[in-house]
Amino acid sequence: MRREDFPMLSNKNIIYFDNAATTLKPRCVIDAMNDYYNYYTANIHRGLYESSILADYLYDSTRFVVRDFIHCSSAKEVVFTSGTTHSINLMVFGFMKNYLEAGDEVLLSKAEHASNILPWIRLAEEIGIVIRFIPLDENYAVTYENFLSSITPKTKVVSLAHVTNVIGDVRNICVIGNYCRNHNILFHVDGAQSVPHLSIDFIHDNIDFLSFSGHKMCGPTGVGVLVVRENLLKKMAPVFYGGGMNESFYSEGGYQLKDIPVRFEAGTPPIAEVLGLRSAILYLMKIGLDNIHIYEIYLKRYLVEKLSEVPSVTIYNKDSNSGILAFNVEGVSSMDVSKYLNMYHICVRSGSHCSKMLKEDLNVLSTVRVSLYFYNTTEEIDALVLALKKCQNIFKIVEY
Ligand code: ALA
Repeated sequence: MRREDFPMLSNKNIIYFDNAATTLKPRCVIDAMNDYYNYYTANIHRGLYESSILADYLYDSTRFVVRDFIHCSSAKEVVFTSGTTHSINLMVFGFMKNYLEAGDEVLLSKAEHASNILPWIRLAEEIGIVIRFIPLDENYAVTYENFLSSITPKTKVVSLAHVTNVIGDVRNICVIGNYCRNHNILFHVDGAQSVPHLSIDFIHDNIDFLSFSGHKMCGPTGVGVLVVRENLLKKMAPVFYGGGMNESFYSEGGYQLKDIPVRFEAGTPPIAEVLGLRSAILYLMKIGLDNIHIYEIYLKRYLVEKLSEVPSVTIYNKDSNSGILAFNVEGVSSMDVSKYLNMYHICVRSGSHCSKMLKEDLNVLSTVRVSLYFYNTTEEIDALVLALKKCQNIFKIVEY
C-alpha cells in the first residue's frame, strides 16, 4: 500500500520492519517541512510579517487537525511536546505531582514502556505514591478481570499503553476508561503504538490524558502530543517556564501565564516538526486508520503462519491483534539474529525494547521484534522467513 510515497523505499534497498521504533516518512511530510524552511521560515506567536503569520496559522491550526484525528472536544486540549516521553513526564510532574498524595496508588503493568514506568518511579521517590502492577495473563495481556482485581480504594490513576511495544496486545481501553470515569480514577493512555495504527476516540473511551509521538506515525522526530481533558489541563502546571508561555512577569515577583495550551510550550517550539506532523496526520486520515489496521492484521496473520514453519523459531505473541511480533531463534541471541538479517537489508529490532520489566513474565531477556506498517508486503515477509530458514543452517554449521 502506498509504497511509492516513501523515498526511503526507492532510495535504499531495504525491508523495513522496525516501525514500532520509528516509521519511514512519506514525501508529503518531508515537503511540508522543507516548504517551511525554504519559503516561510519564521518564529511563531511573535512576528507580524507575512511568513510569520503563515507559520502561526499552520502551527495553531494543527491543533484542530489533531482534535479531529483523535476525537477530543477542543483544540485547546492539544499540547505539543517533543514526543511521548516528554508528554508523560509533563503529565506526571506538571499534574500528578500536585494531584496525588503519599499512599495514593497508580496502576500500571509490567509490559509498559520505560517512559510509562520511570516517571512514576521517580514520583514515588519524590512524594511517596505507590505503584501497583496489573498481573499479565498467559498471553502477557491485561484482562479486564485482572484490571478489576488490581483496583483498591486507594487507586487514583490508571496509566496503560493502548498497544504494548513488545507483545503488541491491544488493551480494551474503552471498558477500562468507562470504569475509571465512573469511579473517579484518572486514566492515561500511552498511545505511542496505537494512535498510528488504529482509530482512537478520546471522548468515547473516557480518556483523561493521551500521549503519542509524531515519528511513529509517518511524522518527524522531535514532536509529540499530550491531549488532556480541558478541566484537568487548566489545573496542570507547566514544567518549563520562559518565552512564549507568559503574559507578563514583574520585578517584585510573580507572573501571569498565557491560556492553555500555549502555557505548556515555553521557548521556540519544534515548528517544522509540528507542520510535518500535520501533514502526516492528514496523510493517515486520507488512507483511513481502519484500512491501516485491517491490512496490518492481514500481514500479521501471514507472518505468523509463515514464521511458524521455521522449526527453531519461538513466537511469543501469535494472537495479539496488532502488527507487532516478538520471537527468538533457538540457540541464537536476538542481537545476532538482527545483525544477520541486516546482511539481507532486513531491519528489525532486538533486545528488551525499553520494556525492561516484561522479562519477569516472558522469562527471556531479549527478543527479535518485527513491527509492521501499511507499506509492508507479504513478499517482504517471505524474504524474512527465507532468510531465517537459512539462518538455521548457518548457525548449525558454526556450531559443528
Ligand atoms: N519505543 C520505541 C520502540 O519500542 C523506540 O522501539
